[in-house]
Amino acid sequence: MAANRIRLGVNVDHVATVRNARGGFYPDPVDAALVAQKVGADGITAHLREDRRHIKDSDVERLVAELDVPLNFEMAATDEMLLIAARLKPASSCIVPEKRAELTTEGGLDVIGGRKHLKGYIATLKEAGISVSLFIDPDEAQIQASKELGADKVELHTGAYVEASGEERVFELNRLIEGAAYSGSIDLEVHAGHGLNYETVSAVAQIPEFAEFNIGHFLIGEAISVGLEEAIHKMRDLMDAGRANT
Ligand code: PXP
Repeated sequence: MAANRIRLGVNVDHVATVRNARGGFYPDPVDAALVAQKVGADGITAHLREDRRHIKDSDVERLVAELDVPLNFEMAATDEMLLIAARLKPASSCIVPEKRAELTTEGGLDVIGGRKHLKGYIATLKEAGISVSLFIDPDEAQIQASKELGADKVELHTGAYVEASGEERVFELNRLIEGAAYSGSIDLEVHAGHGLNYETVSAVAQIPEFAEFNIGHFLIGEAISVGLEEAIHKMRDLMDAGRANT
């Protein structure tokens, strides 16, 4: 039987990447977010990196002010980001690992290794009224540690599944199946994200515990050729078709 509809969070970071290639104000990630909202996105995600390589502080301020759907603020667990989050109060935060030299978020957060720091950090965000998700690999020990530290949600990193092929892809999909089931069994809301595209989304949508997908790079890439509305509609249809097969 089909389980609940999966929420689609659209990540607009790479609209800002294109803008920043020339400086200035065009294209505007906030305009893209408003289009995404209009054509069915359930939320918008933006990652304010330490180096501000795509999203800038003013983008986050405008997203908080202008969106009707919730903003999911992706952030590293730094003092600077905590101050910004506490001031702007996005609906939710997603704590991600951040390395200066990486092209994108390369792996999940080491919640076990960062336990001491993260405990108070998560508590402070929650006291500010911001729900907290941790972006982790589909690993039972990391999921359990996330629960113990008070996270409301986990987002399982789908990058290894998306990049794998053949037997390895089956293995990685099974890790997502087991990770999502374990998260559900300990009452953690569970999301998925990273690298999802038309080819890979359906199998993940069939995993009944996933409540939300956060998708950026592929949708913004598709928007160049078919437009953001068509890309979001097609992704939505594939998510719904996958979930109907659950
Ligand atoms: N979720 C998280 C936590 C991420 O860090 C990213 C990448 O910024 C995404 C989802 C979206 O990944 P992609 O842009 O590859 O769809």
